[in-house]
Amino acid sequence: MPDLTISNSLCTRCGVCVDICPMRILELPGKELLPRFTGTGADRCIVCGHCEAVCPTGALRMDDPRLDPASYPPQKTLLDAEELDAYLRMRRSIRRFRPDPVPREAIVALLDVVRYAPSGSNRQGVKWLVIHETTQVRQLTALAVDWFRSQQDGDTLLSRNFNIAGMIRSWQKGNDPICRNAPHLVIPYTDRQHPTAAVDAIIAAAHLEIAAPAHGIGTCLSGFFQMAAESWEPLQQALDLPEGHRPGYTILLGFPATNFLRPPRRNRLDITWR
Ligand SMILES: Cc1cc2nc3c(=O)[nH]c(=O)nc-3n(C[C@H](O)[C@H](O)[C@H](O)COP(=O)(O)O)c2cc1C
Repeated sequence: MPDLTISNSLCTRCGVCVDICPMRILELPGKELLPRFTGTGADRCIVCGHCEAVCPTGALRMDDPRLDPASYPPQKTLLDAEELDAYLRMRRSIRRFRPDPVPREAIVALLDVVRYAPSGSNRQGVKWLVIHETTQVRQLTALAVDWFRSQQDGDTLLSRNFNIAGMIRSWQKGNDPICRNAPHLVIPYTDRQHPTAAVDAIIAAAHLEIAAPAHGIGTCLSGFFQMAAESWEPLQQALDLPEGHRPGYTILLGFPATNFLRPPRRNRLDITWR
């Protein structure tokens, strides 16, 4: 259960914490009194930390056993839009990786900031499977190829959209059309006990893709691996996720071996205004 500690000398009773609370479970009972949880409010708190984050005097501290004890000083909030737009335009899916491994600490630093991705009810239920051993990546990829082999015959959404036979031929020639010879795989996964769990994991994957270039790391989503992971029991057994958990999306990860010099052109913007 979350706990609020408020400094009597620092709190100005401005009520900003009460106003920001998305659950409406804080109250300011009187001019002289400190903000507090409403009756059963603490039970409904989603520990979003917004009350602590907006307090102008730093008077309020929210504690909960789930929270990482690390905290941060006030951060520079807004990036220059022009700079951020250029960064986002230059993010690319990386399909050629250097063979040298990305140190575990660098992957931890990246995943650490991805904790700041939004999640339904601030559940933060995303966990990470990192296949750091490249030999294991290759073994898992071979299992994914087995699934594609099993899908060769028949008219399916997969066979209509992808050249499965060509992909298998490419694998047999020593290429890796599924994991692109990436040294690592990163898979956010969630239990499916919450309506937003699947989306939470995909949003975490998107945040990882966006943050990675700033950390000097290349990524590419692997829909091919993901499709196999969702359907092929031998691959699911090898991934060995905890009971009831499902992979959100599969991300190839490594140091990039390509250097993009300019953004590609995009389709025209398509907006419906109402
Ligand atoms: C859901 C999804 C699945 C994807 N699966 C693959 C994949 O299996 N193999 C691959 O090489 N790229 C894959 N990609 C990367 C897209 O092809 C890529 O995002 C797109 O071509 C645009 O390129 P960019 O990311 O460099 O802007 C996937 C992207 C998404 C969003």
